[in-house]
Amino acid sequence: MTLNKTALITGVTGQDGAYLAKHLLSAGYTVFGLHARRASPTVARLEELNVKNDIRFISGDLTDLSSLIRVMEKSKADEVYNLGAQSFVAASWDQPILTGDVTGLGATRMLEAIRIVNPKSRFYQASTSEMFGKAQSEWLDEKTPFYPRSPYGVAKLYAHWSTVNYRESFKMHASSGILFNHESPLRGEEFVTRKITQALAAIRLGQQSVLELGNVDSERDWGFAGDYVKAMHLMLQQEIPDDYVVATGKKFSVRNFVDKAALIAGFTLEWIGAGLSETARDKKSGKTIVKINPEFYRPAEVDVLLGKASKAKEKLGWMPETSFDQ
Ligand code: NAP
Ligand code: GDD
Repeated sequence: MTLNKTALITGVTGQDGAYLAKHLLSAGYTVFGLHARRASPTVARLEELNVKNDIRFISGDLTDLSSLIRVMEKSKADEVYNLGAQSFVAASWDQPILTGDVTGLGATRMLEAIRIVNPKSRFYQASTSEMFGKAQSEWLDEKTPFYPRSPYGVAKLYAHWSTVNYRESFKMHASSGILFNHESPLRGEEFVTRKITQALAAIRLGQQSVLELGNVDSERDWGFAGDYVKAMHLMLQQEIPDDYVVATGKKFSVRNFVDKAALIAGFTLEWIGAGLSETARDKKSGKTIVKINPEFYRPAEVDVLLGKASKAKEKLGWMPETSFDQ
């Protein structure tokens, strides 16, 4: 398919950036990627999906407005997907100011660069279910009040309202996807799903003794990143910009995730004890597989996230295609 459209992705080297780049390239887009300078290469995910050579990289950083203006001038992007962020919630308590700068103000800088260079470009903001934080109702949708619980959530809420504000103030085509957790084999290794699957594989192979986790009772609405980037693209194809929740409508605890992943690695777990002294051992061998380590608890937790994506289904025709078990 040939579209002759051009997209710019910030955060192109991240999990979603890689899947989105692949999706847009296969739809015929010319894809530019904002590439923040790092001492070591960060393109492994793009290599994994075999798209690295098809992306036009432009160096820049979300903390540097001048680079964002240049990237808008060079790319002449019709659509801008702002996925770049300090996205690890736990790290946001250690680096709250950097998180505010990149994850919060970074979105405003990108919006400003668009407003200055080409206000007709369409804008997607990577908002998050973390903005709901201390959930104000069981089912979370576009109308649920926000209550962020981390510096990351606070920064994302600022970026979210900036997106709404630029839409309302300057009539820009700016949309925000309130995405619930989405995972993949390309997920960063510090996030819980990847940490669990990697550790269980390493334990199976005798390369690691035990998996240490924090709060295994927290519940998430987990989907697949490859499905979620399609919703981002659909949002920017709508005539009217808007905000959409993207979720599966099913929740599982971290403990459920460990149990299921353990079965695949050949362990049947039984959980013993409670609180910090809780452990999980393999029924067959008696070997301890999981321990609780208070180091991985957060200063304030988001206990449960469960999304209602009816608006995305109705208006975008979007539905998750991949189940939790898959
Ligand atoms: P990720 O894997 O952590 O990717 C983050 C990206 O941001 C990386 O490409 C990173 O570049 C880039 N970045 C970091 N600091 C930057 C800076 N100063 N300037 C420019 N780029 C910078 O995140 P993800 O899971 O793909 O998520 C994509 C976006 O969706 C993020 O904004 C995240 O907060 C949001 N989100 C994610 C989820 C989820 O469950 N995955 C849910 C809701 C919202 P380097 O590779 O150079 O570090
Ligand atoms: N990372 C991690 N490591 N999390 C743990 C651990 C551990 O050892 N033990 C328990 N958890 C719990 C966390 O406390 C949290 O309740 C849950 O597992 C999920 O943690 P993460 O995988 O780190 O993701 P997150 O939910 O905090 O944030 C992700 O999803 C957000 C959308 O809701 C990130 O991708 C954010 O960028 C995204 O906005």
